[in-house]
Amino acid sequence: MRISGNIYLKGDKSITHRAIMLASICNGESMVNNVPHSEDILSTINALSICGIKIKNKNGNLSIIGNTFKHPSIDIDCGNSGTSMRLMTGLLSSKKIRCRLIGDKSLSSRPMDRIVNPMRELGFDVLSTQGCAPIQLQSFEIQKDKEIHISIPSAQVKSALIFSSLIEGNNIKISEKYKTRDHLERLIDSINYRVLKISNNEITINHTAEQAWKGFEINLPGDISSASYFIAAATLLPGSELVINNVLLNNRRLGFIKSLIKMGANILISDEVYRHNERIGKLTIIGVKKLVPINVPSENIPSMVDEVPILSLVCSYASGTSIISGLDELRYKESDRLEGILNILTSMGVDIKISGSDIAISGKNKLYNTTNLNNYDDHRLAMMISIAQLIARGRIEYPDCINISFPDFKELLNKVII
Ligand code: S3P
Repeated sequence: MRISGNIYLKGDKSITHRAIMLASICNGESMVNNVPHSEDILSTINALSICGIKIKNKNGNLSIIGNTFKHPSIDIDCGNSGTSMRLMTGLLSSKKIRCRLIGDKSLSSRPMDRIVNPMRELGFDVLSTQGCAPIQLQSFEIQKDKEIHISIPSAQVKSALIFSSLIEGNNIKISEKYKTRDHLERLIDSINYRVLKISNNEITINHTAEQAWKGFEINLPGDISSASYFIAAATLLPGSELVINNVLLNNRRLGFIKSLIKMGANILISDEVYRHNERIGKLTIIGVKKLVPINVPSENIPSMVDEVPILSLVCSYASGTSIISGLDELRYKESDRLEGILNILTSMGVDIKISGSDIAISGKNKLYNTTNLNNYDDHRLAMMISIAQLIARGRIEYPDCINISFPDFKELLNKVII
C-alpha cells in the first residue's frame, strides 16, 4: 500500500476565520473563496449571521456584505470552535455588540480568561463564567493609549486583541513573548496597509477615521494543518509520491514539515508565490524507508501546535527516542491532547512517557491495536488514529468529529491510497 496523487486542499482554517471576520467589518462586498465546509468555519459564519452580517455561500465561495451589525436576540453558539469564540469576542467588542457567546461541552471547559482579562485591561466590560464560556459582552469604553503584553503562546489571544483594538482614534500596542501565527496581521496589512506597524514581536494598532475599510477578494491557500496527515502518510509509506498544490507555507506554521525534514523525510517545496502577504506553494512528498528521531525544543511548538499529535505518530516509527518539549498548551485544546496522545500511542504498543510538559517517544517498526480507540471526540486525535490505521494496514475509521476541521479527509485519502 502506498500514497500517490496530486491534490488540492480547501482553505486554511485559521486564515478562513480571519478573512470572514475581517470582511464583516469592511464596507460593501467581499469575496472569500475556497472556504472549507468545516464545522468550525460554519460556527464563525453562523455567529456573524446572527449579528446581522449577510453571508451567501456559492459553492464554497462566500459573498459577505460587511458593516451591517446589529445586537443579536439569541446567544451566539460557537460550537466546538475556540477560534470563533475568542476572535469574535474581540471583534464584536470593537463593534460594541452586546451579546453572550456560548459553546459545546468541550469549548465550555476551555480557558477564556486569557482573552477576558486583557480585554478588561483595555477597558471592555467583558465577563467569563468562572474563567470559561459563556462570555458576556456588556459595555465598551476602550482606553485610547494602552500597551498589552501576551505571555502565553496563543495566536487566538493576539488576534482577539487586534480585532478589539480596531476602533477609530486608538493607539494600542500589543507585544507577544512567543512568535505565534500572524495571519491576521498579514491580511490586515494587505487590505489596509496603514493600520498596523509591526516590529519584532510588537504590533501597534493605529486606526483613524480616514482609513476606510473596503471590501476585498481572497483566494484561500490550502490548509497546512490538514495537509500534515497526508504528508505523514506519504512519508511513512515507502514508494509513495504525493503532490499537494496551492498550500499555505507561512513560516510560523512550518514546524511540522521542518521537523520531518530533519528526521530524514523527503519533502520538496516548489512553485512559491505570495498572495495577500502569505507564502503559498507546492509540496512534493516521497516515501522513505527510515526516519531518525528528533528533539523538538519548546520554542518551536507554536509553529506546529496543532500538528503535535501527528508528529508523535511519525516519531513512533523513528529509529530511536524523540523528545518533544514544552507541550503545556496541548492540555487546553479541544481535548487534553497530551493525555490523548499518551493513551492512544500506549494502546498501540508505543513506548511513550510524559515528564512535566515534555514527551519522549521510542520508535518501533510496527504499531498494533489501532482500532476502537478513544479519540476524545477530538478531530486531530481522530485523524492521527486514522493515519495509524492506514500505516498498520488496518481498517480505517472516520469518526464524525473529523468534520470539525476536515470534512473532505475521507474522500481525499481514498483518492490517494493505492
Ligand atoms: C489557532 C491558533 C492555535 C491553534 C488553533 C487555531 C488560530 O491556538 O491551536 O487550532 O487560528 O489562531 P492558540 O493560539 O490558542 O495556541
